[in-house]
Amino acid sequence: MKYVLYVIAAAVVCGLLIGGVHLFRVSQKNKKEMAQYDGPQVSLNKKLGKVLVVYYSLSGHTKQIAEIIKQETNADIYEIKTMEKVDTVPWFYMTLREQLKDKTYPEIQKDFPDFSQYDMIFVGAPVWWYTMATPLYSFLQQVDFGGKKVVPFSTQGSNFGTYFEDFAAQAKNADIQLSQSFNNLPEKYREEEHNKIIQWLNQL
Ligand SMILES: Cc1cc2nc3c(=O)[nH]c(=O)nc-3n(C[C@H](O)[C@H](O)[C@H](O)COP(=O)(O)O)c2cc1C
Repeated sequence: MKYVLYVIAAAVVCGLLIGGVHLFRVSQKNKKEMAQYDGPQVSLNKKLGKVLVVYYSLSGHTKQIAEIIKQETNADIYEIKTMEKVDTVPWFYMTLREQLKDKTYPEIQKDFPDFSQYDMIFVGAPVWWYTMATPLYSFLQQVDFGGKKVVPFSTQGSNFGTYFEDFAAQAKNADIQLSQSFNNLPEKYREEEHNKIIQWLNQL
């Protein structure tokens, strides 16, 4: 019994150490990336036409980026909503992983916007298990962009995996433009993150 407890304690310590090293490395990477966007506030100098921002967000990070794009481009905004609330029980990470593996995507509300009214459509969601969150799969399965300019973006902890390749494979008749990904950042980087968004918009 004593040895079992030692093994469990050793496993917990190892887990904490590995987690700590990972978090430290991510924070160093974020610091380096944000240093590029340090400095005076950048302004939008591009006319993007009539813009629509489509997003899915479970815990608010993607919504935050979507709202900034909306404000800066004077866009309309559309939130992808699941019919049933995603159940954030402690094991929901594993449930969502199974759903991605089995390609069982949730039912979503179908009040889709009319894409033909827009010149540019931003589409963003969180990364789940190195790919798109399942509600974005549901959305892309049901819409056709009809040749419109589509700008994908993601938010993630640190690794977006195959999100953008998967997006391109699923988005029907999308003229895909320069994408951008956003790591979750501490509050102190809000201005740098804002500059990152504007510099990206200026490149479109
Ligand atoms: C089920 C699940 C899987 C995730 N997988 C990844 C991942 O593979 N890579 C990553 O960097 N972050 C991953 N994350 C973190 C989210 O992508 C990140 O927190 C995102 O910004 C959340 O966006 P939201 O607040 O708009 O829901 C995952 C989160 C969840 C809930």
